Amino acid sequence: MLMRISIKTVRVALPVGFLVLFILMISACLQMLPRPVMLRQVDRSLGFARDIEEIMARFCFDCHGVKNREAGLDLRTLQSILSGGESGPAIVPGHPEQSMLFHMVDDRHMPPEGKRPGAYQLRRLRQWIASGAHP
Ligand code: HEC
Repeated sequence: MLMRISIKTVRVALPVGFLVLFILMISACLQMLPRPVMLRQVDRSLGFARDIEEIMARFCFDCHGVKNREAGLDLRTLQSILSGGESGPAIVPGHPEQSMLFHMVDDRHMPPEGKRPGAYQLRRLRQWIASGAHP
C-alpha cells in the first residue's frame, strides 16, 4: 500500500518536477536575452537641440524657416515642428510611421533639390521621433 502510493507519487512528481524545472530554465534564459536588446533601444534618447537641429539647419531651413516658409512650415524649433504646416503637425512624437516629416525625407520628397540627408541622419531622425521627440 505504502509502496504503491510512493511509486505512483514518484511517477507523477518526477515528470512534473522536470517540467517545472524546464519552464524555469527557459524563462531564466528568456529574461537574460532580451534585456540588453531592450536597453539599447530605449537608452538612445536623442534631443532636438543636440542632434536634430543641425540636420534641419543643413537640409531644410532655407525653405522652412529662414528664407521661406514653404507650406507654412517652419522647422527651426520643436514647437513650430509640432505646430506643423498646411497639412497639420509635421511629426507625431513616438510614431515615425505617422510622421509626415519622416515620410517626406524617407521618400526623398524632401528636400526637393540639393543635397539630401544620408542614411545615418535619417536613422537619427527616426530614432528621435520614436523616442518621443524630446527637446
Ligand atoms: C528647396 C526648398 C525646400 C527644402 C530645402 C525643403 N523643403 Fe519641405 N517643402 C518645400 C515645398 C515647396 C513644400 C510644399 C510642396 C510639397 O509638399 O511638395 C514643402 C513641404 C514640406 C512638408 C509638408 C508640410 C505641410 O504641412 O504640408 C514637410 C513635412 C516638409 N516640407 C519637410 C521638409 C524637411 C524635413 C526638409 C529638410 C530635410 C525640407 N522639407 C526641405 C520646399 C522645401
